[in-house]
This record gives sequence, structure tokens and C-alpha cells, in this order.
Amino acid sequence: MDEEELQDDLRLFPVSSISSKLHQEKPEWNFSSWDSFLFPCGADSREWEYFSGNCYYFSLARLSWERAREQCRERRADLAAVGSFAEQQFLMSRARNERFWIGLTDRNSEGDWEWVDGTDYKSSFTFWQEGEPNDSGNNEDCAHLWISGKWNDVRCTFECFFVCERPLPQKSPFSH
Ligand code: BGC
Ligand code: CA
Repeated sequence: MDEEELQDDLRLFPVSSISSKLHQEKPEWNFSSWDSFLFPCGADSREWEYFSGNCYYFSLARLSWERAREQCRERRADLAAVGSFAEQQFLMSRARNERFWIGLTDRNSEGDWEWVDGTDYKSSFTFWQEGEPNDSGNNEDCAHLWISGKWNDVRCTFECFFVCERPLPQKSPFSH
């Protein structure tokens, strides 16, 4: 259909008929493909935020580290693993200076920090608050974003917000 025809149609027909005509003419212009541009994390996951190839969910409730991790896993995700300063800055910009669990723990072996996604801790980015991790009271094995987004270890039963991370949906036009 050319522009003039479309103009005529716009005058004569309701939007729904134009829409279905466009679908016949240009089937690749369907709403789900627009949705994946508008909502890269999925039109059914609009509470997830996109950053650099991954999707993030910032919780509205406070939970222990363990319960927080369960909630992430129920959402086909895991607690966020912070791999770079860019990612750290993104998280800080959304954390509003509140405490948020991340996927970092040394509860398997004191002092041996492990990322839940398997990233090697020793060779990777860290962003601890000065003086942390200090295992205060010999009872602090889980890490959260703390004052101005820097990391602190705290007891894993502490209840705070949490951030989940998962890769982009495969069908997204943003995934490569
Ligand atoms: C300490 C932290 C500790 C926290 C526990 C602070 O005063 O500096 O290391 O994790 O208390 O609430
Ligand atoms: Ca601490």
C-alpha cells in the first residue's frame, strides 16, 4: 500500500483495520517485534531493567540473602554478579543508596569469596567499602551494596533489598 492509500484508509477506517492491513502487508511489523525493542527484557518482564546485555530486577521487599537468592531463581535469574565498574555504576544508580544483596558470599569457606555465577573472585572487579570485608562478629558471610554502593559483608540473615540478574531473552533484537 502506498502513502496515499494509507492516508485514505486512515480517514475511512478505524485504527484496528489499518493495523490488520499493515500486518498483512508487512508481517514483520508485528507488535511483538516492537515490544522487544521497547522492552528488551521481555514485554512480560517490564519491571526488569536492561543494562549491557543483561536484565536486572531490583526488589521491592527485604529478605535474607538465602530467601533473596530463591526469589531470583524463581525468576529464572540469580543474585547479580558485579563484573565491572560500569555494571557497578549502573547498580548504584538504581540502588538509591539502599542496601541490596549481590551474588557474593564466603559462607562455604571463610575468606574465600565466591560469585554465584562462577566468576573467579580473585581475578575480578571488587568494590568493597574501606575496611570491608571484616567478618564482624565472625558472622558476616554475604555481601550487599552499602553506603554509596560500596560493598559490605554482613550476616546472611540480615534482611535487605536484592538485585537479580539474568541474560537477555534469546529472541531479543538486542542479543547477539
Ligand atoms: C561495620 C560493618 C558491619 C555492620 C553490621 C558496621 O558498623 O562497619 O562491617 O557489617 O556494622 O551491621
Ligand atoms: Ca562487614
